[in-house]
Amino acid sequence: MIPTARSPFVKQFSPLQPAPIMDVCLSSEQQPGHLNEGPSTPDGWLEAKEEGALHEDGTGGPPGESNKIEPSLQSLQKFVPTDYASYTQEHYLFAGKKIVIQESIESYGAVVWPGATALCQYLEEHTEELNLQDAKILEIGAGPGLVSIVASILGAQVTATDLPDVLGNLQYNLLKNTLKCTAHLPEVKELVWGEGLEQNFPKSSFYYDYILASDVVYHHYFLDKLLTTMVYLCQPGTVLLWANKFRFSTDYEFLDKFKQVFDTTLLAEFPEASVKLFKGTLRWD
Ligand SMILES: C[S@@+](CC[C@H](N)C(=O)[O-])C[C@H]1O[C@@H](n2cnc3c(N)ncnc32)[C@H](O)[C@@H]1O
Repeated sequence: MIPTARSPFVKQFSPLQPAPIMDVCLSSEQQPGHLNEGPSTPDGWLEAKEEGALHEDGTGGPPGESNKIEPSLQSLQKFVPTDYASYTQEHYLFAGKKIVIQESIESYGAVVWPGATALCQYLEEHTEELNLQDAKILEIGAGPGLVSIVASILGAQVTATDLPDVLGNLQYNLLKNTLKCTAHLPEVKELVWGEGLEQNFPKSSFYYDYILASDVVYHHYFLDKLLTTMVYLCQPGTVLLWANKFRFSTDYEFLDKFKQVFDTTLLAEFPEASVKLFKGTLRWD
């Protein structure tokens, strides 16, 4: 089921509700267009941003001070745009910024779900308490990227992950909303639940302060692999923040299993959207 109605607490930008916000990171001339209009590759998006900063081969051109690219920017260039037939541009307002998300109803992973807006609301309201500045964060099932964008705007070092076919649109949204306006550019990385965890995220070199997850629990066949992934990514000190709209009995069954392996606290409830937000820390006993 694709969510169509926005829940009442969703902060969406409206021309009728002017707010003291900064604009999105890139100006309208600098913004990537729809994938079928104007620059359609990540290189093209970047060329539109800054003449000479990047070359078509994505290497930044010949060696030289002016051509250095941050490693995370290189990671953002890697994925080809996702080829959905139709898109909409949805506007959100979090952390004092207008955020424009390119969405498509053609994929679960190209739509912002209610758990995402709930988690964003919580992050912006608890930034200092969560100590998000420079925090290392990985988001699983990031979809179109709203949560990762908000965490980046709030100062965190974010890695947004999802299935391969979702990454193009995810990258597009991250780039559009964080380039030149966040302390740390978010990374995009493939993470298929339960697969290649040791190879792609070795514990010796990947430590995260927070694992974020929104609406990753619904009617699908990968719930056990999802829980395995959540457990794998948590090390001592890692906090998992999981927001989910509860719809099916299987959602509650997952919650029961989650509670068996994580010390679990219900941090917030958003009854109008049936969303619950849990904090989990892995049990080490
Ligand atoms: C319901 S969407 C939620 C998207 C986003 N977190 C949000 O709340 O707006 C679920 C996300 O999980 C991802 N997903 C589903 N199965 C997956 C799997 N086996 N491995 C990795 N990601 C998966 C989907 O691609 C999608 O982006």
